[in-house]
Amino acid sequence: MVIFMFTTVILAAGMGTRMKSEKPKVLHKVCGKALCRWVIDAAKEAGSEKVCTIVGHKADMVKGEIGDVCEFALQAEQKGTGHAVMQALDFIKSSQGEVVILNGDTPLVTAEAIKNAVSYHRSLKNNATVITAVLDNATGYGRIVRDNDGNVLKIVEQKDASEEEKKIKEVNSGMYVFDAQSLVYALDKITPNNAQGEYYLTDTLEILWGAGKKVGGYTIEDNDEIRGINDRVQLGEADKIMQKRINEYHMRNGVTIRNPESVIIESDVEIGNDTEIMQNVTIKSGSRVGKNCVIGMGTILDRAVIHDNVDILSSVILESEIDEGTHVGPFAYVRPNCKVGKDVKVGDFVELKNSNIDDGTKISHLTYIGDSDIGKRVNFGCGTVTCNYDGKKKYRTTIGDDCFVGCNTNFVSPINVGDGAYIAAGSTITEDIPKDSLSIARARQVNKEGWKDKRN
Ligand code: UD1
Ligand code: MG
Repeated sequence: MVIFMFTTVILAAGMGTRMKSEKPKVLHKVCGKALCRWVIDAAKEAGSEKVCTIVGHKADMVKGEIGDVCEFALQAEQKGTGHAVMQALDFIKSSQGEVVILNGDTPLVTAEAIKNAVSYHRSLKNNATVITAVLDNATGYGRIVRDNDGNVLKIVEQKDASEEEKKIKEVNSGMYVFDAQSLVYALDKITPNNAQGEYYLTDTLEILWGAGKKVGGYTIEDNDEIRGINDRVQLGEADKIMQKRINEYHMRNGVTIRNPESVIIESDVEIGNDTEIMQNVTIKSGSRVGKNCVIGMGTILDRAVIHDNVDILSSVILESEIDEGTHVGPFAYVRPNCKVGKDVKVGDFVELKNSNIDDGTKISHLTYIGDSDIGKRVNFGCGTVTCNYDGKKKYRTTIGDDCFVGCNTNFVSPINVGDGAYIAAGSTITEDIPKDSLSIARARQVNKEGWKDKRN
């Protein structure tokens, strides 16, 4: 068995001035996931044993948001990409196998490409391998200078390049594979003698070549993978490319997506096969959708758990769970912390919040249920309201199994309704209702005959 061991250093200390943001660049999101988190995940998926992210600008904020998925090293002052990697020297020295260097603002790099680059590096027994791309417009990138045998002699930054070098179309992606020893050796030798007065990581290649080491370039197949994000336009472009990848992944998994360009499915969403997603749907990170569901036009799911055979039309479901065979919408609003059972109907203009609705219950129209526990097979008439808030505190409403709630009922909570109770339409319920009883809580109707004539 080949042991595929390597570690990864991710550069993420820069400010990202062109984002014009209070937030560090690497925390901006593509398809619901922070830029540098995409890179961390790609490295791990490729098999990286350990990952160290170099943070600097708003370091605590970056560390806090990324969490303990990797190690961190601090680059207090940003003195260049080489200087950034130096901050991870301890990490590098304690690592086994190769060191892969990636950029925190290049979210489209795939695990596949990282693996291929490491394999290439190994098969040629290189000491350093730079991942390159051939671009029609290479402006802004470091250019790859090779000899006739294809060895990489050096990388010249745009700002330091001669007119001749600027014509080179092969560019530095900013991603590399090094053997750890060579990297440590070369980092020690770089100086800030260049147009930007920075310690360039790119200089390590020329240093290694000069010391008789083997330096190569691995050209990536899909140029999109090296796209770095510097401004919001590039962020939007990367989002679009990533969205296409995600939607195609789900379609290949057996999910039908109608008009996929209009559908937003963020990272870390699971969808079962034979589910159909209609146009303009948004499914945010952390949501799970079962098999054979229909997620109808315009629906928004945010951290929602939807079981099999559920059908949702033009509704919003936040941090809630919907069990099998239930029908939601059109235009229902399920707010956080609801658990809706099997074969329930949550109809048009129904709002649920912090409530449990048991199997077979029907809430068909124009109803608000908040802070409530509703039993099985309850039927709600149109326009039921739980009055769960007295202006200071919230109270719960509990309704047993097999109850019938007439239209326009108000429950002034806290209220307990026993199993099998009936409530007359138009009732304002202020006291508990015993099981199997009929409750009527409204003024008795008076008809004053001939009233119109007397009035005149
Ligand atoms: C770098 C490369 C260039 C390559 C390009 C690819 C160097 C000298 N040049 O240029 O050859 O074509 O990437 O996108 O390496 N960073 C730090 N600390 C620092 C400086 C940068 O962590 O002190 C991080 C940034 O946050 C960013 C990455 O390193 O994620 C790259 O830095 P950036 O300034 O964008 O380098 P480029 O000028 O684009
Ligand atoms: Mg850059």
